[in-house]
Amino acid sequence: MTPAAARPFLKWAGGKRRLLEQFRPHFPARFRGYIEPVLGSAAVFFHLASSRRPGRTILADSNEELILAYLAVRDRVEAVIDALAVQQRLHGKTHYYEVRSLRPEELAPAERAARLIYLNRTCFNGLYRVNSRGEFNVPIGSYVHPRILDSDNLRRVSRTLQRVELRHEPFFRLPDYCRRGEFIYFDPPYQPISPTSSFTAYTPGAFKRSDQERLAGTFAALDRIGCRLMLSNSDSPLIRKLYGSYRIHSVRARRVINSRGDRRGPVRELLIRNY
Ligand SMILES: C[S@@+](CC[C@H](N)C(=O)[O-])C[C@H]1O[C@@H](n2cnc3c(N)ncnc32)[C@H](O)[C@@H]1O
Repeated sequence: MTPAAARPFLKWAGGKRRLLEQFRPHFPARFRGYIEPVLGSAAVFFHLASSRRPGRTILADSNEELILAYLAVRDRVEAVIDALAVQQRLHGKTHYYEVRSLRPEELAPAERAARLIYLNRTCFNGLYRVNSRGEFNVPIGSYVHPRILDSDNLRRVSRTLQRVELRHEPFFRLPDYCRRGEFIYFDPPYQPISPTSSFTAYTPGAFKRSDQERLAGTFAALDRIGCRLMLSNSDSPLIRKLYGSYRIHSVRARRVINSRGDRRGPVRELLIRNY
């Protein structure tokens, strides 16, 4: 029997788990090195890691709390599990708001990671949103029995992350270190297709049109280096224009982050590749 594969340990807006089957035929058959620079819950990384050994692997995101959580799970998983077990025991409305009000930079690494995971598993819709001072401000969700601690999966994640490099940095640093033949998958915050459809405030300073343009510039620079590139985004006129010279494939997605249940119907998204 093959051992169970590690799965994402966070819920993340725009998480790609449900799209993996549609992505499968579009991954490169072979590549050396894997880089995922707008990481979130890393659904594509865990999927690829379950069946391939891609060589050097670099995972990055501009959200510092997120990257510190991956580092803690990689390097001190038992301490993270112990801290989460405490959160699971104490979970309730008062406890949630107490944990939310803690200042993460004053916590030890394992407690800091456990705080993020606990809030993520119990907050409204698993959202990550901060105010202008960088403080997490999502209200508690209405789960009856949220799954706060999954020790087996956290240990599998920790094993999978050994020898993986984790970086807290913006995507535009990639051309400094990416090499020919490496596979890079981008899943940036999506360009809104209508004024009400956006959820882009992952970090202070939402992802703006100028960020989409800069990302397209980074994509072009990596294309010149000879990297194999795949990118997800919404089917919007701006994205079709920015990536008009690459292969564009349309996939069927389900919009999940919407407070109005009746607007959670299927939408089309784009999968853009340079190979
Ligand atoms: C749509 S989510 C990625 C979802 C991920 N593919 C998954 O399966 O969960 C987008 C991510 O981009 C990150 N991000 C936003 N702006 C960024 C930037 N300038 N550089 C790097 N990461 C950024 C956010 O912190 C967030 O984690």
